[in-house]
Amino acid sequence: MGARNLLNLSDLGPGGLRRVLDHARARKLARKGLPHGAADGDAPLAGHVLASLFEKPSTRTRLSFDIAMRQLGGEAITVAAGDLQLGRGESIDDTARVFSGFVDAVMIRANRHADVEAFARAASVPVLNGLTDLSHPCQIAADLLTVEERLGRNADGTVWAWVGDGNNVCNSIVEAAGLLGFQLRIAHPEGYAPDAGFIAAARARGAEIRISASPEEAGAGADVVVTDTWVSMGDTDADSRLRDFQAYQVTPLLMGLAGANAIFLHCLPAHRGEEVADSVIDGPQSAVWDEAANRVHAQKALLLWALGKLG
Ligand code: CP
Ligand code: NVA
Repeated sequence: MGARNLLNLSDLGPGGLRRVLDHARARKLARKGLPHGAADGDAPLAGHVLASLFEKPSTRTRLSFDIAMRQLGGEAITVAAGDLQLGRGESIDDTARVFSGFVDAVMIRANRHADVEAFARAASVPVLNGLTDLSHPCQIAADLLTVEERLGRNADGTVWAWVGDGNNVCNSIVEAAGLLGFQLRIAHPEGYAPDAGFIAAARARGAEIRISASPEEAGAGADVVVTDTWVSMGDTDADSRLRDFQAYQVTPLLMGLAGANAIFLHCLPAHRGEEVADSVIDGPQSAVWDEAANRVHAQKALLLWALGKLG
């Protein structure tokens, strides 16, 4: 199997996503007890180097890709886009060709999804999307791993409630619903809908996606309640967003409607008192710390998939 890009979750296809999740879980279990920096026994990426390129801030994506490469036996270089000649006018295409001569894979966090697509077209090594304005596929692989661990079953057939902005993270959950076949209920205020193309594609795969303006309608009886910041990196309309989302906080009341066995997810960073109440994110239903830590395990499987080592 040759090298592949991961620009959106659907690049994996349903079978690829299943293989990634099963592999991530097995590899995580196999290294239980090892210190974080120790390589897995088989060190499948020994001799390989990943370059991680950031146009925007990051805590989890930055750390988890670096640790993922160490655990796979490889190495990682982290680069701030502002430090490159890119900022002085060197083209994306030329930058991609140069990176391809130095490293085995590239992870990019970019403002514009189209720029990552352009980089991937010009690169001759796999490119992974570490968040764009359109999507955040690596995050949702970790979310799925977390849900399957917590619920003790595959995500297929579960019910998810997204409460808040139909943003990049929401778009990747829409894709996941299409790939795995779970019900997704999205509650957002008018004007904050997720990407219409992703919704249509997920529905075409058979996913049941319900959209309303009511957090209660979305949350009632859900297995998973998930939200994200009301103001994403790059959003310039913070004041109106804070007003428009007032009724979309994930509260203990909403988690109560979902039920005692429901879990709460948030990709982080959280804005406590805005999209989520302290007592929810710090409460027994919250899986957010496992979700963050699972970024390493999900991305190890995604890196192996992208490098053609997962079948
Ligand atoms: N969830 C996530 O991608 O976090 P960072 O922005 O810190 O990488
Ligand atoms: N939607 C958020 C996710 C951060 C990980 C953003 O794009 O800023």
